[in-house]
Amino acid sequence: MAANNITFLPPVIAHRGMPKAAPENTLESFIAARDAGVKWIETDVKLTSDGVPVLMHDELLDRTTSGHGPIADTTWTQMQSLDAGRWFSPSFSGTRVTPLSKVLTFCAESDIRLFLEIKPSPGRTQATVMVALIEAAKFWPESIAPPVISSFDRDALIIAAQLRPDWPRSLLMDEWNKDWIDAALLTQASVVAIKDSLLTDDRLKTLRKTPLPILAYTVNAPERASELLSGGVTAVFTDDAQALIEAGLEPPLPVDPGQKQE
Ligand code: G3P
Ligand code: MG
Repeated sequence: MAANNITFLPPVIAHRGMPKAAPENTLESFIAARDAGVKWIETDVKLTSDGVPVLMHDELLDRTTSGHGPIADTTWTQMQSLDAGRWFSPSFSGTRVTPLSKVLTFCAESDIRLFLEIKPSPGRTQATVMVALIEAAKFWPESIAPPVISSFDRDALIIAAQLRPDWPRSLLMDEWNKDWIDAALLTQASVVAIKDSLLTDDRLKTLRKTPLPILAYTVNAPERASELLSGGVTAVFTDDAQALIEAGLEPPLPVDPGQKQE
């Protein structure tokens, strides 16, 4: 199916790569997702203290590296000495924190599309968007569809729209904001991505009234993914891309917004 020139076939987005198989947000995790057959991956970007864009989800180093403390207080040189794989399994010892440039090159070479989630540390929204978009523009070939710039931070999306109006944006929601349509308009979002636990049948009915593709995160059970796709969700973010692809999920039929079911 297609909307705003964005297609999702299979309707699966590899969330932080394939963290069921390899440490999240590392090249190893993206390779596992590609080998499972995904066409889309998602990753999180924030800045080191000296402004290097790195693929990290948390504010702190502690969960996913051998280091401690805020990423925003750690230099790139310090970060390069950390182990980003041993926490996951001894077989991944020696894995390093991945800079944004690596996933950009990987996507371009593998013909994989990217949800680039801007996850700014407190007070660093503008710097994070600017650095991430400049880096992405440097590595992204014009012949390939651009990354989708995604964020919970509405200001980040507004800045992204000013810097690269031609790159699509995805508005993330981890709580049910009744003003979500206004927020989607304000940020000029092409896609809305919502936490799975918020997606009740009633809300899906409301969401189906918008022409924007609706995505759900994080969905690991094939049965739930199938239920959401039948309910009008366009694609799901998952930690287990292999399981969902092996389940042979069917994408939803294209919907004419003028003829949506009530
Ligand atoms: O983009 C969907 C998802 O990644 C948002 O939540 O916390 O996993 O980054 P989180
Ligand atoms: Mg994310």
